[in-house]
Amino acid sequence: MVIATKNPDKALEMREVLSGLLPGIAFVDDVEWEDVEETGATLEDNALLKARAVAAATGLPALADDTGLEVVALDGAPGVRTARFAGPHASYAENRAALLAALVGVEDRRARFRTVLALVDREETIVASGAVEGSIAFAERGSGGFGYDPIFEVGGETFAEIGRSGKNTLSHRARALEDLASRLG
Ligand code: IMP
Repeated sequence: MVIATKNPDKALEMREVLSGLLPGIAFVDDVEWEDVEETGATLEDNALLKARAVAAATGLPALADDTGLEVVALDGAPGVRTARFAGPHASYAENRAALLAALVGVEDRRARFRTVLALVDREETIVASGAVEGSIAFAERGSGGFGYDPIFEVGGETFAEIGRSGKNTLSHRARALEDLASRLG
């Protein structure tokens, strides 16, 4: 299959977790596709948009991931707008700073990461999902991971402190991949 993302951080996690779950799986790397605009109203819409576009462009089974961070004190935002929280082309650091700024003085730090996966292979489509409950730290901690990992805490540690192998045992993405593997039988 093709991992339908141009985000190398996501692709690495997906490959590591999937290789453990489905040891026979082969990934195709040397294929190209045009960027897909994430215009969907939900994570599922966007995962389907990306997987369908990449399957059509490459003729191969394509697996796409769309992920959102849902913060209780922000009524579930940023959700589907997680990548653009600080603006249309925001960097990881700008998004983290914007979220910390939005939560200044807020005691309720509860948040959930949610991933929806879409696997498209010709006429067949499988949608899977996974989530992890945690909280937003008061400041960045740790040097691993990507995106919001330095400020997303589970069990007292941020994902950036836990490191990739620890994150891959309990993350939203790992859980969604487990769901996908179970649906594949
Ligand atoms: P998208 O799924 O590519 O739309 O990503 C949504 C946003 O969430 C981007 O800003 C990503 O950097 C961030 N993100 C996605 N997955 C993770 C993760 O596992 N940890 C931290 N941030 C993530």
